Amino acid sequence: MPGESNAKRDAFTTSLGVLFATLGSAVGLGNIWKFPYLTGANGGAAFLIVYLLSTVLVGLPVMISEQMLGRKARADAITTLRKLAPQGRPWWLVGAAGALASFLIMAFYTEVAGWVFAYILKAISGNILTTNSALTTAAFTSLITSPLWSLVWQWIVLAWVAFIIVRGVSKGIEATTKRLMPILFGLLIIVCVRSLTLPGAVQGLEFLFKPDFTKLTKDALLIAMGLAFFKLSIGMGTMITYGSYFRDDQDIPMTATRVMLADLSVSILAGIAIFPAVFAYGFQPDAGPSLLFITIPTVFASMPLGHLMLVLFFILTSIAATGAMLSLLEVPVAYLQGQFNMTRIQATLLTVGLLALVGSTAALSNSTLANFTLFGKTMFDLFDFISSNILLPVGGLFICIFVGWVWGGKQVKAALSNEGKLKNEGIVRLFLFIVRYIAPVLILIVLLNGLGVI
Ligand code: PHE
Repeated sequence: MPGESNAKRDAFTTSLGVLFATLGSAVGLGNIWKFPYLTGANGGAAFLIVYLLSTVLVGLPVMISEQMLGRKARADAITTLRKLAPQGRPWWLVGAAGALASFLIMAFYTEVAGWVFAYILKAISGNILTTNSALTTAAFTSLITSPLWSLVWQWIVLAWVAFIIVRGVSKGIEATTKRLMPILFGLLIIVCVRSLTLPGAVQGLEFLFKPDFTKLTKDALLIAMGLAFFKLSIGMGTMITYGSYFRDDQDIPMTATRVMLADLSVSILAGIAIFPAVFAYGFQPDAGPSLLFITIPTVFASMPLGHLMLVLFFILTSIAATGAMLSLLEVPVAYLQGQFNMTRIQATLLTVGLLALVGSTAALSNSTLANFTLFGKTMFDLFDFISSNILLPVGGLFICIFVGWVWGGKQVKAALSNEGKLKNEGIVRLFLFIVRYIAPVLILIVLLNGLGVI
């Protein structure tokens, strides 16, 4: 049966490789672009606290669940759920919804990544390096409103990730993320140090760390939870797919916890890199999605070695985006390979071709399609909203129900202790309690509340 033969399946080779690849998936534009602007727009520290709670109580258990299922089945996300579910039950639909989500996310993600790639060149040329925010705003607007350049940059990004993906799981994903992730951390720390030493930095830190709960709206709860899902690449099969490449001796609860903590650190570092600078230069923290592209150049323009730093910053962001996009692309590619016996090249070309089509509607939503809206949102915003705030949480809810109530405690204990080799009964018991009672109830309440049902 297609998808059932594991003999020739590629996989991650070392434990460290697993960690970097998984972290490479989690860390991305979510940390450097989304987290700062959402935190800025939703009240700062109070939003951060809700986001933290969602990450620990919902995100972590879902991530552990997905990796465990993937490793058990050693198959793509759809096949995994079909294999592990009781005969004839349609649990594979959760995997199918995930594949849809991966498409919607890639559609707008590749666009933002395109801006980031374009900004490397703009930074090198030096023409966005100015303390005049009118000029940095104009540069950004002219990029995103150009239909031609929006598409060209999106295609360049798609070609870049396709190039890595066709090389395979160990030689493509693992090798790339292992080289790039340490560089990303190094660069981020340099930028943070610079931002913290600006006059007025304290105000930015207060915004990020001093909560004011009056600013927390009902929408903010759903947005914070959606961000937790998006950030950890969960609720849509990425972590199932990556779990299927994990080693048998990988300690899954430990790996997931490390990834969660490292990812959180990157978000907070990105916040520390950006908010002090926002306040120091008199910007508004709630500028929205353009925050990164307008504020950062202005900040770098006024410091020694600013030109070099600006180039490094956009290189660092494109590294982060690359690791995340590899994992997004891997979901449909693994499915097509396993299920339809396609070669990796065929599966990648088909996926990327479809993505170029779907993605163009997002790419053009600041220009040609700016007036084309559904539910009052452009395609770009709609894809983001539907995936982060609906599909991922719903996917996560079903994963919790499946693991906690369908698959059952005995299987979970065996899988998480590596068939008894790890002595982690306490951790497994805590995990089961959260995945059965806490996480699904929280997801349901926040989801229904955010959508205005309760
Ligand atoms: N976690 C990635 C980020 O923060 C985005 C992502 C979402 C990747 C879902 C894979 C799956 O940028």
